[in-house]
Amino acid sequence: MVSGHVYIAVSLDGFIARSDGNLDWLMKQPTQGEDYGYDAFMASVDGLVMGRGSYEKVLTFGEWPYAKPVIVLSRTLTQRDIREDLVDKVRLSDASPKQIMQGLAEEGWQRVYVDGGRVIQSFLRDGLISDMTLTRIPVLLGSGISLFGSLDDDIDLRHLKTKSYPSGLVHSTYEVVGDDGASEAL
Ligand SMILES: NC(=O)c1ccc[n+]([C@@H]2O[C@H](COP(=O)([O-])OP(=O)(O)OC[C@H]3O[C@@H](n4cnc5c(N)ncnc54)[C@H](OP(=O)(O)O)[C@@H]3O)[C@@H](O)[C@H]2O)c1
Repeated sequence: MVSGHVYIAVSLDGFIARSDGNLDWLMKQPTQGEDYGYDAFMASVDGLVMGRGSYEKVLTFGEWPYAKPVIVLSRTLTQRDIREDLVDKVRLSDASPKQIMQGLAEEGWQRVYVDGGRVIQSFLRDGLISDMTLTRIPVLLGSGISLFGSLDDDIDLRHLKTKSYPSGLVHSTYEVVGDDGASEAL
């Protein structure tokens, strides 16, 4: 059994980055020593699956922030494009979301952190996300890269919990409700 989990910060109007990928609005938020559950969430997953867009943004941070294995989804990058110091930490895949999750299940992964707007959208469409934790940032950006996109059918969610912080950040977790009332998992 492997399941997909989202943990992402989003502006109040639904954007995860400015149109050019800039995260200045997020980086300037005061953390006040609070990690908003990030360390516990990271400890709960076996690794990450992220899109090329997110991977390329993380590379601009300088130091690689992940201790766990990362699968980067791309149909354009090749393994030779992976930075030398990351070859043991990052794997590329051009497989479909279902194939990736099937492969990770066979490797013994149980919980996958799915990251990147378009990648989250495609995993949601394929019923591969079990829950989503959104940290809403009190800012309106007006435009940018959307967390969510168009859907053929509604995706029902069950609200599990919400916590608001003195900083103004609001942290909510939703379970994705499958057709049979249960979260989807492979
Ligand atoms: N606010 C936050 O917490 C947060 C978190 C994560 C990311 N971000 C930001 O979000 C931005 C990136 O998001 P994004 O939506 O532009 O890109 P993304 O989802 O990270 O990556 C999309 C790319 O992944 C590749 N891909 C391969 N298989 C795919 C599939 N099945 N579905 C979708 N994509 C697939 C494609 O690259 P190829 O063209 O190479 O095939 C596609 O262009 C960055 O600016 C990042 O900083 C913000």
